[in-house]
Amino acid sequence: MTDKMYPPAADFAANAHADKASYEKMYAESLADPDAFWGEQGKRIDWMKPYTKVKNTSFEPGNIDIRWYEDGTMNVAANCIDRHLAERGDQTAIIWEADSPDTPARHISYKELHDNTCRMANVLKDLGVKKGHRVILYLPMIPEAAYAMLACARLGAVHSIVFAGFSPDALANRINDCDARVVITADEAPRGGRVTALKSNTDAALLHCKDSVKMLVVKHTGGQTTWTQDRDYDYNALAAEVSADCPAEEMNAEDPLFILYTSGSTGKPKGVVHSSGGYLVYAAMTHQYTFDYHDGDVFWCTADVGWVTGHSYIVYGPLANGATTLMFEGVPTYPDASRFWQVCEKHKVNQFYTAPTAIRALMAYGEDFVTKCDLSDIKVLGTVGEPINPEAWNWYNDVVGKGTKPIVDTWWQTETGGHLMTPLPGATATKPGSCTLPFFGITPVMLDATSGEEITTTEAEGVLCMRDSWPGQMRTVYGDHERFEKTYFSDYKGYYFTGDGARRDSDGYYWITGRVDDVINVSGHRMGTAEVESALVAHAKVAEAAVVGYPHDIKGQGIYAYVTLMNGVDPTDELRKELEKWVRTEIGPIAKPDLIQWAPGLPKTRSGKIMRRILRKIAEDDFGALGDTSTLAEPAVVDDLIANRMNRS
Ligand code: WT7
Repeated sequence: MTDKMYPPAADFAANAHADKASYEKMYAESLADPDAFWGEQGKRIDWMKPYTKVKNTSFEPGNIDIRWYEDGTMNVAANCIDRHLAERGDQTAIIWEADSPDTPARHISYKELHDNTCRMANVLKDLGVKKGHRVILYLPMIPEAAYAMLACARLGAVHSIVFAGFSPDALANRINDCDARVVITADEAPRGGRVTALKSNTDAALLHCKDSVKMLVVKHTGGQTTWTQDRDYDYNALAAEVSADCPAEEMNAEDPLFILYTSGSTGKPKGVVHSSGGYLVYAAMTHQYTFDYHDGDVFWCTADVGWVTGHSYIVYGPLANGATTLMFEGVPTYPDASRFWQVCEKHKVNQFYTAPTAIRALMAYGEDFVTKCDLSDIKVLGTVGEPINPEAWNWYNDVVGKGTKPIVDTWWQTETGGHLMTPLPGATATKPGSCTLPFFGITPVMLDATSGEEITTTEAEGVLCMRDSWPGQMRTVYGDHERFEKTYFSDYKGYYFTGDGARRDSDGYYWITGRVDDVINVSGHRMGTAEVESALVAHAKVAEAAVVGYPHDIKGQGIYAYVTLMNGVDPTDELRKELEKWVRTEIGPIAKPDLIQWAPGLPKTRSGKIMRRILRKIAEDDFGALGDTSTLAEPAVVDDLIANRMNRS
């Protein structure tokens, strides 16, 4: 391999939580004796009743059972707030930066975070929310989102955040799947100068839910909303009346903290369930080591709390560590492409964590938007969500980091709770495009896709699995443990299957090559092709649909839909627009197909299975390499698809 390597600077390594030697030593210890290692790490959070057991996990077929610290009790909110009050009650916990730069930023101290979280908890209590109940959050990126998460944690209620970009239908499905009692929303969500009417979306969703579901509405923009008596509650009015104190429930380490719905290769999105104790230990530890976080640092993760990245690295990890975490309501390019860097300068951000898609979008605007800002406080740059192409990595390194800031390319998933493979900035020499090496306790293996055998040579290419558990691992699929086993533990028995393909180079570095299942990664967000297909076929004019990913300059992957219309329906541009709109309303704007090709027929095997491999190749404009088409029922179908392909370079 001739990949250029970027070793950590000696002075950085000297002051870091881990240098190369200590990483290697700790990593070896973490594998040699997980009980001792994680037993020690568990002490980074406060326990009400200390655990005596550390690891009790099984990946055995028929008995998938994951428990960490199972006899310990604790409370996540108490760990993220209360335990910091004596020492840093007046320190800023959350810096809130609004969509518009003209709106003043807000600084919420740990003391204020305590009071606001308790008020939210008491309001929820008055609405009947108790330990174990589910609460849906459908909120803009405002401090109340963090209060609501922590309020649920304080009461032992399980939150499930639905990204504010999802449609009323998607919201209703999630409310119903987890049988939530309350939905917390806001009047409107401003983003990039436009607003989404969250309250009226929630009104529309609740038409499909039980009458008993209550809506708690935070006033944010003050935009006009309609009100349903005895169902809708005004958060701001209620919060003013309740106490700013609320005891934290004693929770078992294994009690669920949250559910987060994520797309898979089949069926409806599944509810990924995360625990309280193990999750928090893992989120806090990865936040500290991956970003080399030190006391007093200002940490900014640009994700939305609607995704796992926002859970672990805006709220739980940073707050468990007593950090100042920045929450940004807006988008990178509004009002212009300098917004991220202006916010970094304004709040003296020390660690900046974003997605490759944002970097690629900003690259297109040129360097001046970056270089006019003072980014000298930045110590570490991070990326997440998809493989970063070397061009974007180099721009991030040269233009944003001036060649002096370590870049951590963090590979992980909604299911993993925190980073599994990532450089540690003081320890790991980086290579552009590689997520490098495993975090402590993580056991990546490369399996041969067909035989399922472990590839033991250093250089390897195959499917990426994990041999053993880690504390942040998801525990089950909400309400469907069988689906948990089927999705993650049945293709390769005895391993956790990530769904990703990867390559391991001669230095043992990992390079993620992308999903090996029918999941596509659009701007760092996971989209199940089956989900988009079922939305399309739900339209009266659509007979059949097949959806695949194709390379997209900014988004990483774009959504390419092949659509067969009902007999007699005209394939017009208008209909194309109608279908785009349809998918937006069925799922949300992020699921809108980028390209729709009218397909008189789809390539199928004689047994009727759609040959996606062929559809992918055509969408990639790489039809010279269609491979074996001899099993096709009607080969002529392919010629038509090639002739009318939409993505031509
Ligand atoms: C999938 C998980 C976990 C945060 C956001 C996405 C891809 C994620 C990287 C990376 C290459 C990456 C994988 C993974 N992915 N980070 N650094 N390099 N690929 O969470 O929606 O659960 O998606 O995102 O394909 O399986 P998610």
